[in-house]
Amino acid sequence: MKLRKDDFGKKFKWGVATSSFQIEGSNTVDQKLDSIWDVFTKQEGNIRNNDNAINACNHYELWKDDFQLIQNLGVNSYRFSISWPRIVKKNLISKNQKGIDFYKFQIEELLEKGIKPFLTLNHWDIPQIFLEKGGWTNRDCIDYFLEYVNILSCEYGNLIENWITHNEPWVISHLGYSIGTHAPGIKSFGDYLKVSHHLLLSHGKAIPIIRENSKNSEVGIVLNLTPAYPESDSPYDKKETLLFNQFFNKWYLDPLHGNRYPIEIIEQWKTKGYLIENLNFIKDGDYSVISEKTDFLGINYYSRAILKSKKTNNKEFPIKNFSGEKTKFGWEVFPDGLEKLLIDINNDYKPNKIYITENGCSYDYSVNKAKQINDVKRINYFKSHLLACRNAIKKGVPLEGYFHWSLMDNFEWAEGYYHRFGLIHVDYDTYERIPKASFDWYKNFLS
Ligand code: GCO
Repeated sequence: MKLRKDDFGKKFKWGVATSSFQIEGSNTVDQKLDSIWDVFTKQEGNIRNNDNAINACNHYELWKDDFQLIQNLGVNSYRFSISWPRIVKKNLISKNQKGIDFYKFQIEELLEKGIKPFLTLNHWDIPQIFLEKGGWTNRDCIDYFLEYVNILSCEYGNLIENWITHNEPWVISHLGYSIGTHAPGIKSFGDYLKVSHHLLLSHGKAIPIIRENSKNSEVGIVLNLTPAYPESDSPYDKKETLLFNQFFNKWYLDPLHGNRYPIEIIEQWKTKGYLIENLNFIKDGDYSVISEKTDFLGINYYSRAILKSKKTNNKEFPIKNFSGEKTKFGWEVFPDGLEKLLIDINNDYKPNKIYITENGCSYDYSVNKAKQINDVKRINYFKSHLLACRNAIKKGVPLEGYFHWSLMDNFEWAEGYYHRFGLIHVDYDTYERIPKASFDWYKNFLS
């Protein structure tokens, strides 16, 4: 059936998404502090090809041109993040006016262009000095984050209507503190659990501050959700699926919606001897702070996981090799997972509204002589996932927006510049931007 923009309703937020560290560059200008990603990328071996984001897409210089491209695309919304190290001075309390102005000009320009800014407070590039004070592992450090939230919500409170506290607490805590493939590169199971808890706690504590300073605004959090499927009907595969779902999705979804942390995964960690310190970082009253009501849930969806029991495979969370089409990242193209996920989340947690805050794919396409990039696979991925969204809306899911990841090719964290997720191609030598066929497809769809 043909996909039509009208099927999504008049109020639907159509957007694209980016994040500060991945696109800005200019990491040492205007008194910006070091972020943990500045430090991490300098250490040999952390990033594929030892790439760094010193220049990234040079968006710091070219943001006006980029906003013109966003306007040409015809979206009505743009999700981006603020680099905390640009906003504060070394004591993490005093303001750096240059950083505050940098984003204020951006917000004003977006509004002038009729594009609604969705602002993410923490998309991973936290100040190194915050880490040195203990960072997310130290409960007392939450106050520094709240200080930052207070500064931004005071400064931009009457301009911004959509606030996102954290982007993907699972990625921050698991990749950053358990397996150490992301900054700050720590490998400690105890730290990982503490960090996940403190991120959720700081989210709950930030909400009333934002509401106070930014009247009539919406606040939410963004989770990366990966629905889990058993490889077979065997009870062992089903058990693995349940555990993966708790570890990856429910660990965040449950406490955010008034439940406690899921129990089977805790039992599993105990059995394995991981949970040496118990969960004594969870204090009385924490659950009620974490479940502070939000206005929306942001979901980042890329693919699913298929689980096979360790009885036949001794990897940690053995994910089957997908038989279907994969993106360059090796992630299966599975739009049905998005439709089912939306329906399940709506049934299980009843969020007020949902936005797809990221969805996209990495593919390699070269620029042809006519300077075109015919990224057919991205267009197919895009269409099939929008269809999944539309089907979910038809079935009653309060989905009110979709943000494609990403506006342009950018620095893909530990993968450096190896993956290209953009609707716009970036030449990293000249910083020239070339809209791909998928950009034109989205533009036509919207017009
Ligand atoms: C994410 C990240 C993005 C990634 C994207 C592709 O939220 O996971 O926001 O920064 O680039 O997901 O891996």
